[in-house]
Amino acid sequence: MVGRITPELKEQILARTDILEIVGARVPLRQAGQLYKSCCPFHQEKTPSFTVTPARQSYHCFGCGAHGNAIDFLIEYDRLSYPEAMAELAHRAGMLLPEAGTDQEAAPPVDLSPLYRILAEAAALYQQQLRDNPQAVAYLKGRGLSGAMAAEFRLGFAPPGWDFLLGRLGRDPDQQQRLIEAGLVIERTKEGETRRYDRFRHRIIFPIRDQRGRIIAFGGRVLDQSEPKYLNSPETAVFHKGHELYGLYEARQRQHQMPRLLLVEGYLDVIALTQFGLPYAVATLGTATTPEQLQRLKRHTDELVFCFDGDQAGQAAAWKALRISLPLVSERLSIRFLLLPSGYDPDSLLRAQGRAAFEARLEQAQLLSDFLFDGLRERAQLESAEGRARCDAEARKLIALAPEGTYQQLLLQRLESLVGIQRSSSTAAMPGVPATFARSSQRPPYARPLQGARTHPVPVRPQLTPVRLATALLLQRPQLALAARAMPEHWTSLAVEGRELLSELLAQADADPAMTPAKLLEQCRHCEQEPLMAELADPETTQHIPAEGMEAEFIGALSVLNRQAEREQRYQWLSRGDLECLSAKPQQALTP
Ligand code: UTP
Ligand code: MN
Repeated sequence: MVGRITPELKEQILARTDILEIVGARVPLRQAGQLYKSCCPFHQEKTPSFTVTPARQSYHCFGCGAHGNAIDFLIEYDRLSYPEAMAELAHRAGMLLPEAGTDQEAAPPVDLSPLYRILAEAAALYQQQLRDNPQAVAYLKGRGLSGAMAAEFRLGFAPPGWDFLLGRLGRDPDQQQRLIEAGLVIERTKEGETRRYDRFRHRIIFPIRDQRGRIIAFGGRVLDQSEPKYLNSPETAVFHKGHELYGLYEARQRQHQMPRLLLVEGYLDVIALTQFGLPYAVATLGTATTPEQLQRLKRHTDELVFCFDGDQAGQAAAWKALRISLPLVSERLSIRFLLLPSGYDPDSLLRAQGRAAFEARLEQAQLLSDFLFDGLRERAQLESAEGRARCDAEARKLIALAPEGTYQQLLLQRLESLVGIQRSSSTAAMPGVPATFARSSQRPPYARPLQGARTHPVPVRPQLTPVRLATALLLQRPQLALAARAMPEHWTSLAVEGRELLSELLAQADADPAMTPAKLLEQCRHCEQEPLMAELADPETTQHIPAEGMEAEFIGALSVLNRQAEREQRYQWLSRGDLECLSAKPQQALTP
């Protein structure tokens, strides 16, 4: 964790930074007098309007208006957070940022480059060993891995024996010390005698790269049934398990911004998904997902799908992941959960059933909210009052983790109907309790039931999907149609329930400035959806939205739909295989 970055420190770091190097390493710049030019990496264009001015240490795009200094560029282009961007620049300048929680002000320069260098050397040696070792190659072939994948992920092999790396790279005590600091060599003192030996022995090697592609650690798998199956590098000055994600660098090499990211459990799952044409998976490094990892992923995508094995351990891991994702949900980031059939991981499932079957599952992945409520329902004993009260309490704690706003409100509303439905149906079933009691409680219920279910005693409130929310608001205030005029209309291509009716109502309301709620509702008379529309037109449906917030909510709901439509569009491109059209940059060579 990076501590406080004072303005002075920031100035020092910027003074030692050349924006030309930062931008030039990522964008093909051409000199034009005092300036450097290129096509803008932040929007699509054919003629260059992106410029870098070394004299001002700034960049500017005349097309889209993007501008800033080296820090801004890293934040925008590499999707770093501010502290990460500062750490990156500090590192380039040979400085170290103060640690969080310390009062340390100045940054004693620590040069990490020898560590990176020795890790890269080790990776190259392991790679070479893999080429020369038929047993290791046979193992990978037996697992169905292609040579292209082995090259893209730079797989290697650590030969048996205690001193392969020590012998090759540990010629002098300084180098041996470095191997220890890099986590590659272990030092043990036993009965007064100090011994040094290689950490990774007789294992397939998975190099772990940071966001810039530097090798920072390794995972190693045995070739047989021995234990432990995987061994990972320890925490070092350059490797912090809880922050890194296996495969993120490789995925970004293919696509700069990914419409969707899968979070899986294993190295081999990432590689198998890539090999099967789903090159947007990352894995944690043998630990539970951390908030830091989610924060990082959020900057690279707007749809995150957690994939877990459907067994008990997987379900427990998924519930844990749910807890840490709740603070992140927003209409910008959709989070979904995919539980695979018990006993399968993405690798084995793909090999058993193929890509199409896996993609079909992916499409069915549960929304975070559905996953939450299914989990609650399974865990709680909803038949008893105590069970419901416990469920209510537990759920409220979870829902409180979500950011305040509409989403949280919707979750609460849904919780009420989960606990409430049970309450009223069971009291209704109790002898001696007046029927009306079942319906009228302290919290006046979602009075009328839905669609043709009017005779059913259980009151249900419609679930407010974005389409329904927009429809409800429009039915209550037809003049909102004017606010929609300025909106893009991507959403009209969506094939979701109720979308067509919403389009129609919007057109009617837009055509008649004097439209009233009653007249608009009249349009739905005799249509199949009439009962639902009546429900939505009832202000109680949206009672959590204050009058002054209605327009913002309405626009918000349409925006969510627009984003959904855009994502679908991108997936159509993806499935056509035109990966390039998604990235601003031309595809880079995939082999090292
Ligand atoms: P799995 O046991 O699911 O293995 O561990 P896997 O990835 O499917 O590998 P194969 O298919 O059996 O070869 C998932 C992840 O948990 C970590 C590793 O990161 C692994 O990829 N792990 C597992 C460890 O760190 N240590 C272990 O002993 C086992
Ligand atoms: Mn596996």
